[in-house]
Amino acid sequence: MSRILVTGATGTVGANVVHELRGRGAQVRAFVRDPRAAAAKLGDVELALGDFDDPASLRRALIGVDRVYVSAADGPRKVVHETAVIDAATEVGVERIVRLSAMHADPASPLHVFRWHGEIDAHLRRSEVPSVLLRPAFFMANLLMVAGGVAHTGMLHGPTAGRRIAMIDIRDVAAVAAVTLLGEGHAGRTYELTGPAPITFADVAAALADATGHPVRSVDLTEEEARPRFEGAGLPDWLAIHLAGVFGVIRAGGFESATDDVERITGHPARDITGFARDFAAAFTPAAVPTGQPG
Ligand SMILES: NC(=O)c1ccc[n+]([C@@H]2O[C@H](COP(=O)([O-])OP(=O)(O)OC[C@H]3O[C@@H](n4cnc5c(N)ncnc54)[C@H](OP(=O)(O)O)[C@@H]3O)[C@@H](O)[C@H]2O)c1
Repeated sequence: MSRILVTGATGTVGANVVHELRGRGAQVRAFVRDPRAAAAKLGDVELALGDFDDPASLRRALIGVDRVYVSAADGPRKVVHETAVIDAATEVGVERIVRLSAMHADPASPLHVFRWHGEIDAHLRRSEVPSVLLRPAFFMANLLMVAGGVAHTGMLHGPTAGRRIAMIDIRDVAAVAAVTLLGEGHAGRTYELTGPAPITFADVAAALADATGHPVRSVDLTEEEARPRFEGAGLPDWLAIHLAGVFGVIRAGGFESATDDVERITGHPARDITGFARDFAAAFTPAAVPTGQPG
């Protein structure tokens, strides 16, 4: 049986990839920096301790490994980190790499994160290792970043100009990763992963209202109105700029096309916003107001 190394294993997608692989009976090794936090998050899974900045730790983690899931955090070290994994995996001769990229990945993109993805994808394709590129659209899980605000105000703000987004549930991204790591016939392919249909923020608000039982209204913002929200959110500059840029892509209709890649690869339809809203309703629900003091 193949042994699969999962990098970025404690990440939001990565942890789901570990879960999906284990659910399919695969032999999984998770590459992690903090074993305690990893064990708490991932449960009983083989851990390889290391850091992308420590090439010896990568080589150790790859001993006895056949296939690798490559993902790292976004940020200025992303290209260095992921190319280090790809190079170490090429050196030991793994038989397959599945990489979490992003829709709009392009070495010439004006947006940092899409450019970094494009550069890493190109590096991977130049390597000798058969590879699969997963390019998901906007994650539904991004909505969790504003869940507290939605719960508090009953408003979902977004500078989308009412455009639709074929947003995807990360559990489907993880399922596709597991199938392409374990199954055959995917090498050399690039998959554009989306939800079942493009939806507006008004559709999202309606789904959240249904799921929480509380009113939620979508409020569109202009680019100018939204800018201070990104800049004032305490995010690193590159991330604030990237997020503003992603909404620019949304307003240009760049996420409006849905594909059927999730269903073709996993055999089940992509999850829709209704299911996401139901499963994460608690995060979007106003805290209960105490009705009285104990006597
Ligand atoms: N948000 C979207 O809409 C969207 C859409 C398409 C694609 N994407 C892509 O999805 C990816 C994010 O995946 P994710 O959510 O699973 O990642 P994530 O939650 O950002 O997690 C990053 C992972 O990298 C690990 N890591 C960071 N620095 C490390 C280091 N120096 N050495 C070893 N491990 C290190 C982290 O470990 P620790 O736990 O130790 O920090 C964590 O496991 C990004 O590439 C993003 O561009 C996102």
